[in-house]
Amino acid sequence: MDSLKITGGTPLEGEVRISGAKNATLPILAATLLANGPVSIANVPHLRDVTTIIELLGHMGAAVTIGERMRIEVNPTTLRHCRAPYELVRTMRASILVLGPLLSRFGQAEVSLPGGCAIGSRPVDLHVAGLKALGADIHVENGYIQARAERLRGARLVLDTVTVTGTENLMMAAALADGETIIENAAREPEVVDLAAFLNAMGAGVTGAGTDTIVIAGVEALHGTDYAVLPDRIEAGTYLVAGAITSGLVRVKGVRPEHLDAVLIKLRASGADIVIGEDWIELDMRGRRPRSVDVRTAPYPAFPTDMQAQFAALNVIADGVGTIVETVFENRFMHILELQRMGANIRLQGNTAVIRGVDHLTGAPVMATDLRASASLVLAGLVAEGDTTVRRIYHIDRGYECIEEKLELLGARIERVSG
Ligand code: EPZ
Repeated sequence: MDSLKITGGTPLEGEVRISGAKNATLPILAATLLANGPVSIANVPHLRDVTTIIELLGHMGAAVTIGERMRIEVNPTTLRHCRAPYELVRTMRASILVLGPLLSRFGQAEVSLPGGCAIGSRPVDLHVAGLKALGADIHVENGYIQARAERLRGARLVLDTVTVTGTENLMMAAALADGETIIENAAREPEVVDLAAFLNAMGAGVTGAGTDTIVIAGVEALHGTDYAVLPDRIEAGTYLVAGAITSGLVRVKGVRPEHLDAVLIKLRASGADIVIGEDWIELDMRGRRPRSVDVRTAPYPAFPTDMQAQFAALNVIADGVGTIVETVFENRFMHILELQRMGANIRLQGNTAVIRGVDHLTGAPVMATDLRASASLVLAGLVAEGDTTVRRIYHIDRGYECIEEKLELLGARIERVSG
């Protein structure tokens, strides 16, 4: 298994181009199943999770070709079956996103239950309940969700918890349903908005995406289209924190600054100077030690849970005491234990981490447990004295395209060690 060896202590300086968003690419590739002809998707990041969903589409018989610069073409009309096997789903829980499209387009789906993961139990009860409300005959047996529907019928759905992929699955299912569907308490993430725009580019009737009430007017068929995925706001936020934690100067390019409002508020509170352009953001923390900030995660547009671990790392070396409250997932503090091994002063109390900044960290061998925890360990390694080896970085390869190349461009001393 590969690891990343990082020698800390260098303030990062430079600019980095941000890739397409993983969490928009996954639902959009799943949504290609809805089309009655070929679909072409551009700005797709080269990530393990993307490879996994491409494998899944191919496994079902869709014709998938990968063009230059990761332009992906999917033709779902060659589909042979509607089964998403455990062997693939267990490696990426977002595979559940094929459930809604398969059911809506082909009238049947057999999708393995994803099971839990390091950050929590991650149930899919709201996905299942919503599909039942749309008229699906759906039950779980032998670890698989078995679903059938002649044709789904539009309905008013009220989600009692804000769920990103739940909103996405139900929006995709409703796209070809008979009649109108209303999703109340819908997720408002930019990735949900991007999926809605993609569905509409194929001829769907989605309105209200980005608000907590999404209305989908079902149509008879969806046609192929060309589409480009939006930039990854979490990748962008991660590189901005890399600039802040090393007291450097970092510009992220090819971003949508308006998707990072809650993160930029906290970076400014930590003492960073932030300049915003049309499609770039520049952070300057040169010559200063970050100040501690308090963070409470919640659904968009509030502070994103996917940036929580990165801010925990920033607080570890900041001046003062910062609290991190995780309200979305029940076990998203796995990085804390590893940061403590590097000298962090953190007290965990339920879903709150109280972090007293220390003036230095020492490099250490640490282990990645989930995608964003891995990112926080890399960030800590960038500022620690000496060498840090982050092991099991297949977690990081799921969500960060060419991370060592991008960090090297910013002046980091980092190398991938195989084996
Ligand atoms: C999406 O996961 C993202 N993944 C996650 O990003 C992100 O952390 C999360 O949204 C929250 O923003 C993708 O988009 C592929 P949820 P998702 O359903 O949809 C509960 C990353 O690092 N819930 O919004 O699985 C659930 O337990 C990944 O890129 C139910 O109870 O998250 C959680 O407490 C990690 N029942 C809360 O809702 C359900 O049926 C929010 O989860 C569904 C969810």
